[in-house]
Amino acid sequence: MKPTYALILAAGKGTRMKSDLPKVLHPLLGKAMVEYVVRSAKETNCSKIFMVIGYKEELIRERFKDQPVDFILQYEQLGTAHAVMQAHKKLADKSGTLFVLSGDVPLITSATLNALINYHHKANAIATLLTTRMDDPSGYGRILRNKHGQIEGIIEESDATPEQLKNNEVNCGIYCFDIQEALPYLEKIECKNKQKEYYLTDLISLLRKEKKAVEGYSIANSSEVMGINDRSELAVAGRIIRHKILQDHMIDGVTIIDPDCTYIDDGITIGRDSVIYPMVSIEGESTIGTHCRIFPFSRIYNCIIGDRVTILGNTVIEESRINTGATIGPFSRMRPQSVIGENVKIGNFVEIKKSTIGKGSKVSHLSYIGDSQVGEKVNIGAGTITCNYDGVRKHQTIIEDEVFIGSNSELVAPVKIKRGAYVGAGSTVTRDVPPSSLITSRSRQKIVKDWVLRKKRGK
Ligand code: UD1
Ligand code: CA
Repeated sequence: MKPTYALILAAGKGTRMKSDLPKVLHPLLGKAMVEYVVRSAKETNCSKIFMVIGYKEELIRERFKDQPVDFILQYEQLGTAHAVMQAHKKLADKSGTLFVLSGDVPLITSATLNALINYHHKANAIATLLTTRMDDPSGYGRILRNKHGQIEGIIEESDATPEQLKNNEVNCGIYCFDIQEALPYLEKIECKNKQKEYYLTDLISLLRKEKKAVEGYSIANSSEVMGINDRSELAVAGRIIRHKILQDHMIDGVTIIDPDCTYIDDGITIGRDSVIYPMVSIEGESTIGTHCRIFPFSRIYNCIIGDRVTILGNTVIEESRINTGATIGPFSRMRPQSVIGENVKIGNFVEIKKSTIGKGSKVSHLSYIGDSQVGEKVNIGAGTITCNYDGVRKHQTIIEDEVFIGSNSELVAPVKIKRGAYVGAGSTVTRDVPPSSLITSRSRQKIVKDWVLRKKRGK
């Protein structure tokens, strides 16, 4: 069989988004809109994926630098036909099928794409376009059929008559073309329309006039082919993707208490019997183990969370690793590069930054631990602060196994508190503490008897 090449149109600015970011890079559940299109294209057996880029092309190249996508530059964005023409220049000597996708139609599934390609080949067509009926077809190009039901062309909304606008069969912006038989006609397309653009849709009527075999492949699920042109459509697509992601997790054995207000990015794994409470957001490249509980208003970004971890409410964890059995929160913050060991307890109002906390240790209340290595079975009292910054540089604090830090202590880094040492409450530790010793550095308590009574008597 002749090869099939995919071509994704992604050069447009997306004026209606009113954004500095190219439309196709707008995120949907952690991935750019066009990444969903690339993923579906990859799941077909096309031999290559091309993408036409133009507006802020460097941003799109950067996003796909590790992926098998070949870029074609469309200098000026003169319309969808002009975009395909840039690809035709590269493919003119090839034979086979070009299947054209829109970078702004992200919900398209590979099942539909494969069905379209198969249909195109079976029907021996020169061009096959994907169509659907929409309850509200506004904004889409409408399919024109003759009295025998054959496709005659596509009319864009802005050029259509009121009668044509009543038709709710729309063009999805996804097509198969025979490279040798169909694409040479791109040269004949003119830009005599309201938008002064070269419309790819005009290729259909041109081919029909030449008596070429044009077919339509219709699908029932119109939400799959919604085009995203503005931010409200972006939100609608986001909701559809989000619910699909949550559905998949639930089928895999995760409890999602309220799918209407749970936010889990695409590509995150969550182990069985984990429970996700409402208003939780799990983002980026995160992995969550089994039997975890994540309570409301927590945000987890780019984290690896082990099994049986409990994350109490209002906790923010970024780029960190939380090992099996740990409990974090409520109201705590784990900043990047923190590693929280097995069965550790991190309590309320604790901030940890770039630190390792060893197995079984506890930091239960109101502390700041930064640039530190904390050993196993350490107890860090309420209000402990590692003074890691001297105004110029950051310094390390090392707290070895089984150390006890009394409440309201300051550990002025660089400093080492050796195994089993005991820091008295309210101490400011500025020098290393030897193993198993007690250090106190607060001033001695002084009691002046009856001082208050004498003061009141005016003496
Ligand atoms: C297009 C179709 C319309 C269809 C709809 C489906 C045309 C003329 N119209 O309209 O019939 O119903 O999609 O979603 O094709 N692009 C380029 N270079 C350009 C212009 C556009 O690469 O010069 C890209 C855009 O980045 C976008 C895609 O092509 O990803 C579609 O362009 P857009 O302007 O959104 O077309 P629609 O008006 O939605
Ligand atoms: Ca569009």
